[in-house]
Amino acid sequence: MAGKTVYVAGHQGMVGTALVRRLARENVELLTVDRREVDLCNQAAVFDWFAKTQPQVVFLAAAKVGGIVANNTLRAEFIYDNIAIEANVLQAAHLSGAEKLMFFGSSCIYPKLAPQPLREDSMLSGPLEPTNEPYAIAKIAGIKMAEAYRCQYGSDFISVMPTNLYGPGDNYHPEWSHVVAALIRRFHEAKLAGANSVVVWGTGTPRREFLYVDDMADACVHLMKTYSSAELVNIGTGEDITIAEFARVVAEIVGYRGEICFDASRPDGTPRKLLDVSRLTSLGWHAQTSLKRGLSLSYEAFKSAKVR
Ligand SMILES: NC(=O)c1ccc[n+]([C@@H]2O[C@H](COP(=O)([O-])OP(=O)(O)OC[C@H]3O[C@@H](n4cnc5c(N)ncnc54)[C@H](OP(=O)(O)O)[C@@H]3O)[C@@H](O)[C@H]2O)c1
Repeated sequence: MAGKTVYVAGHQGMVGTALVRRLARENVELLTVDRREVDLCNQAAVFDWFAKTQPQVVFLAAAKVGGIVANNTLRAEFIYDNIAIEANVLQAAHLSGAEKLMFFGSSCIYPKLAPQPLREDSMLSGPLEPTNEPYAIAKIAGIKMAEAYRCQYGSDFISVMPTNLYGPGDNYHPEWSHVVAALIRRFHEAKLAGANSVVVWGTGTPRREFLYVDDMADACVHLMKTYSSAELVNIGTGEDITIAEFARVVAEIVGYRGEICFDASRPDGTPRKLLDVSRLTSLGWHAQTSLKRGLSLSYEAFKSAKVR
């Protein structure tokens, strides 16, 4: 990447801002563009911008992203926006001669009941979790698009599958956030209000893996520099925890001392989601930030940020 122009799409998102922080340590010329100037769903705007700037390296970290409720409610937006962004950016990168592109998938692309830990080759081996099927189908389309461009045009497009991410810049929307942001906010508000109990959605039994977003950005830069293949690469810690145990850790970090109740009427989603990270490990990268340290950093960022 040294000396190259590097475009981070979605530079104001959680992953995008972490990539911008991480790329500040590299000898690159960073390119970003505001969504008000270039809506990535607008093909003409995307093609024009790429033709004008001709980025050499592209991190496609822009997407319509959200938690289980957002995914299940905004089903049309999740499939339309994500397919449009992927189609526009990959084609524009191809037309403008980008040397390398990283596409971000998600662990949701794996079948609901695929064997755990989830291996990269389990994609398309069974039915998806229905609550986020439109998002997963759009992500699978992006992966297949990157693969097809590599196959037909020789484009160096690579795809990574991050596990659940958390950290500074997370979305704290009360209904549409991911689980980590939702819990930080709920425990924080309960602490301030002196509440005796906090309700956590679902039964608490599903197991999830969580990766601190700055670790994610570091893994992406590592792979951008060293990896070139059609095979997907999972990015995670390789360790999971039940939502109930996780909620207790978040409560401890936030300093909430009341009761934690589980609302089983809310959907649980996939029973377990742990990525097999053996490919990533063999490529020379592993996560550095412990869950407690990552959550402490996230909570500090939450308190000092203007919450969205
Ligand atoms: N967060 C996770 O746990 C997680 C897990 C697995 C994979 N991923 C993947 O990682 C990538 C980044 O996710 P994230 O958590 O950083 O999401 P995020 O915080 O919601 O950021 C997404 C960014 O994309 C931008 N964007 C969305 N639609 C756009 C459009 N039409 N035109 C221009 N910009 C647009 C958003 O702009 P606005 O701020 O203006 O909306 C935002 O800056 C995504 O591909 C996601 O699927 C995330």
